[in-house]
Amino acid sequence: MEDEKQSIVLFPFMGQGHIIPFLALALQIEQVNTNYAIYFVNTPLNLKKLRSSLPSYSSIRFLEIPFSSSSHGLPPDSENFDTLPYHLILRLYQASASLQFKSSFKEAIQALTARCHGRPPLCIISDIFLGWTANVAKQLGVYHAIFSGTGGFGLACYVSLWLNLPHRNVVAHDFSLPDFKEGTVQLHKTQLPTNIAEADGEDDWSIFQRENLSAWVDSQSLLFNTVEEFDQIGLSYFRRKFPGLHVRPIGPLVLRLKTRDRIGNTTGVITRETILKWLDSKPSNSVLYVSFGSMNTISSSQMMQLAKALEASQKNFIWVVRPPIEVDINSEFNGKEWLPEGFEERNRATGRGLVVQNWAPQVEILSHRAVSAFLSHCGWNSVMESLGHGVPLMGWPLAGEQFFNAKYLEEEMGVCVEVGRGKKSEVNSEDVVKKMEEVMEEKKEIMRRNVEKVKETMEKAWEQRESFNGSSAKSFHDFLSDAQQNHQQTSDAKEWREMER
Ligand SMILES: *[C@@H]1O[C@H](CO)[C@@H](O)[C@H](O)[C@H]1NC(C)=O
Ligand SMILES: *[C@@H]1O[C@H](CO)[C@@H](O)[C@H](O)[C@H]1NC(C)=O
Ligand SMILES: *[C@@H]1O[C@H](CO)[C@@H](O)[C@H](O)[C@H]1NC(C)=O
Repeated sequence: MEDEKQSIVLFPFMGQGHIIPFLALALQIEQVNTNYAIYFVNTPLNLKKLRSSLPSYSSIRFLEIPFSSSSHGLPPDSENFDTLPYHLILRLYQASASLQFKSSFKEAIQALTARCHGRPPLCIISDIFLGWTANVAKQLGVYHAIFSGTGGFGLACYVSLWLNLPHRNVVAHDFSLPDFKEGTVQLHKTQLPTNIAEADGEDDWSIFQRENLSAWVDSQSLLFNTVEEFDQIGLSYFRRKFPGLHVRPIGPLVLRLKTRDRIGNTTGVITRETILKWLDSKPSNSVLYVSFGSMNTISSSQMMQLAKALEASQKNFIWVVRPPIEVDINSEFNGKEWLPEGFEERNRATGRGLVVQNWAPQVEILSHRAVSAFLSHCGWNSVMESLGHGVPLMGWPLAGEQFFNAKYLEEEMGVCVEVGRGKKSEVNSEDVVKKMEEVMEEKKEIMRRNVEKVKETMEKAWEQRESFNGSSAKSFHDFLSDAQQNHQQTSDAKEWREMER
């Protein structure tokens, strides 16, 4: 019976920040329509980890493609960029592109088709960094979409930068991005991630990005984890640049509490229960939640300044501490030596703050009434979780498109104030305190109002009352119709060929 279902193939890039929105997408598809068999494609270790974190109600299946990290010059068992030092990350990107050459991906899809009595998948939805899959899909006559776990504006800036490297042509620190309406998107050189800042067009990062981002033209649809109503500038960038693709915002796709929490793991003495009990004891709207995500971290001097600011501000806080950039990310770490003497004990004793190591149940924290603001690296999963719970942000972007997310959230949406920028900049605790005052006191009301509006928009996006009322529900419905139509045409054509033989 199961084989009667049409299959949808999902292929995220190998990193937690990419796997999470794909998983949210998979669960959303299952919820909207149980008539699809969903297959997650990835390398063995990523699938193993994923299997153990799936909720019991999900029937997602797995397609494994073989991968040997050591034959790509990576340490053994490195299949996920979360555990790699910066200088090896490019190698994982290049290795991922090799999955097309030995036909591993193509063979996996062909094997799946054979198991389904010769019926190919309805569609392949793959990651922004796996553009080559579009060509494979084309060869197999399967409908293809790129799914971006990040929002339209952030990705638009990122793509525009990689394809044009506009900062190379200016001496000034400010410059505007091409492909947007003249002069409307201005960036400062401090807002460039390291690999873009260093790119000269001939380096390996530039080559990878130019070739692979351009490969999107073979795809048919571009899906975004965002909402049409608040991401117009970015979405229209893609509608102009890739006129052959349907650009479809289908967010918010956010993992529900249990699943997200099972992916992480709290180590040390502070458990999930301790955190929630602590929050229960605090007044509403009084706690600052600080976390730089599962992959990013700041420098030791920045950590010190932030710690000083948290104490000087007299605000309640929960801080998820990870090793500073100077420390090997895989080493044993107990935050103490990088924080002011006695910081953790002092704040725990006074009840003012909790220092949590490595990971905290973020969704549960953000949905707690005691939380007032979120100091975040502005990775898009964190942004969606924060906005979806009506929590304004303090932005401290560190890598990738986070700089542009923070800019957009602040300048266009009015739900964020930037407090820091990058892993190397000078940060002064007094400035940080001022920003805390701004977000948690002076601008509190207006930011709350702005974020409430965004939250409502997000809640309505997937509404499906009598019809597909919400913009994302409609967008997703249109996407599936296109895929069905393509599927029908391909199988009609195949029948014709068979009849003619
Ligand atoms: C993606 O980049 C890699 C490494 O630079 C390259 O080998 C591969 O051919 C590129 N893929 C496409 C579709 O151009
Ligand atoms: C969580 O961490 C503990 C201690 O490091 C470990 O024993 C346990 O297996 C981990 N649980 C999961 C689900 O990863
Ligand atoms: C949803 O759409 C249907 C059909 O277009 C319409 O009749 C109904 O009023 C809409 N509901 C809301 C809440 O907008």
